[in-house]
Amino acid sequence: MTRVFSGVKPTGHLTLGNYLGALRQWVAEDQHRSDALFCVVDLHALTVDHDPARVRRLSRQAASLLLAAGLDPELCTVFVQSHVDEHARLSYLLECVATDGEMRRMIQYKEKAARERVRGGSVRLSLLTYPVLMAADILAYGADEVPVGDDQAQHVELARDLAVRFNQRYGHTFVVPRVTLPKVAARVMNLQDPASKMGKSEDVGPGIVYLLDEPDVVRRKVMRAVTDSGSEVVHDRAARPGLANLLEILAACTGGDPAALAAGYSSYGALKKDTAEAVVEVLRPVRERHRELCGDPGYVEGVLRAGAEKARAVARPTVDAAYRAIGLLAPEEDVVPEAVR
Ligand code: AMP
Ligand code: TRP
Repeated sequence: MTRVFSGVKPTGHLTLGNYLGALRQWVAEDQHRSDALFCVVDLHALTVDHDPARVRRLSRQAASLLLAAGLDPELCTVFVQSHVDEHARLSYLLECVATDGEMRRMIQYKEKAARERVRGGSVRLSLLTYPVLMAADILAYGADEVPVGDDQAQHVELARDLAVRFNQRYGHTFVVPRVTLPKVAARVMNLQDPASKMGKSEDVGPGIVYLLDEPDVVRRKVMRAVTDSGSEVVHDRAARPGLANLLEILAACTGGDPAALAAGYSSYGALKKDTAEAVVEVLRPVRERHRELCGDPGYVEGVLRAGAEKARAVARPTVDAAYRAIGLLAPEEDVVPEAVR
C-alpha cells in the first residue's frame, strides 16, 4: 500500500492556507487510500525564536485541529514528532549526506534568515539544517508520497536527492518519495497582500483566515480582501493576483474550477460574498468538532500516545538499517552473535 507522510509546524494558529493546501487532501483522500502518518512537527517549531509554553499550547491545538478537520485515528496515524526519537536520530545521518551549499540554496531559509537579520536577530543553526530534519521525517517512514502545499516542494525535492545519494553510496535503504500538490489552492495568498503566502507566523493578520476564526471575522477578512484595479472578473494569477486568490479559495471550497467560476461573476462584491460564505461553511464543522475535543483532552492525548507507538514501530527498522549501512557498529547484543560466527 502507498505510504503517505506529512506534517504541520506548531509555530502559530493553523490557517485556511494549511487547510486548503494540505489538511483537506489528507482528510478527504490520503487517509482513505493509503497507509498515512500525520505529524505535529514540534521540533521544527524550535528553529525560530520561540516561547516554550506557546509551542506546547500550539502543539496540543494543532493535534486537536487535525482530528477536528477529520483525520480519523482508525484510518491513519496522528502523532507528535518529538515523541518519536527516530526523527532526530536519522537527521544526523542525513546531515552527513547533505552539503552546506544545498542548505543555503533553500528558498525558505534565505527568506527567513534575511527577515531575521533585518530585525537584528541571530539565525539559529537549526533553521539552516531544518530541511534535513524534514527529509528525516519523510525517509524514516519510507513514505512514497508527501502531500504538501507548494511552498514545501523544494524541501521534498531535497529529501528525494538525499534518499538517492544515500542509497547510491551505502546501499538501498530509503524509498525515494515524491511530492503531491493539491489541484487548486496549492498556495493560498494573504488577503491583504496577494504577493505573499498566507502564513501563520504573524500573530494577528487581517489578511490571514485562521481555522478557528468566528464566522463574522471570516466574513470581514474576506470582504476586505485587496483586489486588483479593473472590474471584470477573470482568473489571471500574474495580472490579477488578488482576484485569482479569491477565485482559487472559492474553487477549493466548492469543488469548482477558478476560471469557470470567474465567468459566473460580474462584480467583485458578489464574488467576495460567495467566497466568504463558502469559507464559513467549510470551517464551521472544524470549529465545532474542535470545541468538542477541547472538552475531552484525555481523548486527544490517548490518540497521540497510540500514534507515537505505531510511528516508532514503523520508523525504527529503517533508521536502524541506515545506521548499519552508513558504517556504525550495531549495539553489543547484535554484534556478539555476529562476532561468534
Ligand atoms: P506549515 O504551516 O508551514 O507547517 O505548513 C503545513 C502545510 O500547509 C504544508 O504542507 C504547507 O505547504 C501547507 N501550507 C501552509 N501555508 C499554505 C498556504 N498559504 N497555501 C497552501 N498551502 C499552505
Ligand atoms: N516543513 C513543513 C512546513 O513548514 C512541515 C514539515 C516538517 C513536513 N516535516 C515534514 C511536511 C515532512 C511534510 C513532510 O510546512
